[in-house]
Amino acid sequence: MPLNVLLVASEAFPLAKTGGLGDMVSAYAAALRDAGVDVSILMPAYPAALERAIDVVPVARMTGLPGGDARLLRARMPDSGVTVLLLQMDHLFAREGLYRDPQGRDYLDNLTRFASLAAAAARVARGVRNVKRPDIVHAHDWHAGLTPLYMRLAGVGAKSVFTIHNLAFQGNHPLAMGGWIGVPPELLAPALSDERSIEFYGLLSMMKAGIVHADRITTVSQRYAREIVTPHFGHGMEGVLLAQGAKLSGIVNGIETSVWNPATDAHIARPYCVDDTAGKQACKRELQQAFGLVRDPFAPLVAIGSRLTEQKMADVVVRALPELLEHYPRLQFAILGQGERGLEHAMQELAAAWPGRVGVQIGYDEHCAHMLHAGADILLHGSRFEPCGLTQLYAMRYGTIPVASRVGGLADTIVDYAPHESRDEDCATGFLFDGDQSHDVAQALGRALAAFMQPSSWHALQRNAMSRDSGWKASTSNYLALYAELVDARPALADTRVRKTPGRSRTAVSAEAQRVRGDEAFNPGAGEIVLTA
Ligand code: ADP
Ligand code: GLC
Repeated sequence: MPLNVLLVASEAFPLAKTGGLGDMVSAYAAALRDAGVDVSILMPAYPAALERAIDVVPVARMTGLPGGDARLLRARMPDSGVTVLLLQMDHLFAREGLYRDPQGRDYLDNLTRFASLAAAAARVARGVRNVKRPDIVHAHDWHAGLTPLYMRLAGVGAKSVFTIHNLAFQGNHPLAMGGWIGVPPELLAPALSDERSIEFYGLLSMMKAGIVHADRITTVSQRYAREIVTPHFGHGMEGVLLAQGAKLSGIVNGIETSVWNPATDAHIARPYCVDDTAGKQACKRELQQAFGLVRDPFAPLVAIGSRLTEQKMADVVVRALPELLEHYPRLQFAILGQGERGLEHAMQELAAAWPGRVGVQIGYDEHCAHMLHAGADILLHGSRFEPCGLTQLYAMRYGTIPVASRVGGLADTIVDYAPHESRDEDCATGFLFDGDQSHDVAQALGRALAAFMQPSSWHALQRNAMSRDSGWKASTSNYLALYAELVDARPALADTRVRKTPGRSRTAVSAEAQRVRGDEAFNPGAGEIVLTA
């Protein structure tokens, strides 16, 4: 019997995506399937997900989840055909945004919404007729963080893995809500008294629940796994992670090489490959036109494509650009992103001040992201911290050379170009820099521009970057080895149930969920699964 793995996540491209998490989940699922694993994804049935998924059929009805009753639908991913289980709770998930309203405010009932996802995962792990029971439940980020805890509370035998994609987002909520979502009082007590507690600086933390209760924890690069146990990168969670250090490891993300492939990409002006990059010129022309830049084939064209936030050092970029533009008269920037309003405006002001040299598109546009990677010469990717980063992997595959911060997955995936050192252009794929001041960015970009002026060095860099193996094969083997350890260690008929009565709380919960569910505290070990006709 093949290993059965259930991936639990709030996003999976193309059903739902706000960033790299969605790309990772669907690409990794396809890689697991290719490796012979019986894999499914469990995620919310957002309206767009229902529209894009194929062969959708109802399989079960679940009663008494933290947010009320649900329908479980089975479908397939449109590209890969991987099985996806969609948790339909329209009062929680049929909304415009995944986590926030159109004004950018977090939905007030995110705890109830994602506790419901985690509770549904634990039910599937306990057994739902017509759905294979997983050997491994692999939960991703805070949205799925309660999964390992609910599995324990329900006495499920399957093993749990929790992957941290970004420790900056922790899903923290008032502690008083814990009882309502079925967390026993002793697991809400000050953390010092019980290391299984999910209390975190006076709040309930879904991220901490995943960290403390999973059988294994992974992060999306090895360097980030080392960084997050330090105060600088730990976002307050470093102590918790240190205490759980024995189960923590890093496995770097791969990318979906069939989607991000300049030889077959339907989004770009002309295909090209490592042995014939002529098509990249046409892609550059198209990008210059789309971003209102001067049509200059020899101008160094720098792309920025990311969330416009402090994590991505967008504030530093805004400060660094004017001087760079003065200093290098032909330098151009194409900027695609959205994020903090102030940073979006600052980028637009730069475009207005430097017509023909800075082009900005605010918004989220998948097609444009492909054009950007294909048409640019350089990707500027500053990050104060970067768990893995996928953008630099896409850029390298398109022969666009990254200039990036020496942190996390950026440092693990980019080989720095240092022409006078032993690591010369034989293996370099980009430029790494330390620091988060505008002169750090300017200096690094200066190094890249010097190499750009030397065609032979530049072509060597492009060849190395385009030939880098960024596929999922090696990392999938690492995950499989980790799963194998867990499955081998699983006692027959394990009963790890924490037998406690859930606490109760009457603090504000989603009014709609309360109406649907009544005033009963959620009980992770109870609840029905009713088969649909
Ligand atoms: P993060 O998840 O931290 O934002 P990653 O590099 O892992 O960073 O993933 C970002 C993903 O989101 C990539 O697929 C990137 O192309 C995409 N992306 C980011 N901003 C935009 C945008 N404005 N339009 C289209 N795609 C975007
Ligand atoms: C997060 C991280 C990013 C990573 C992605 C996928 O969004 O910020 O670095 O690449 O998850 O794992």
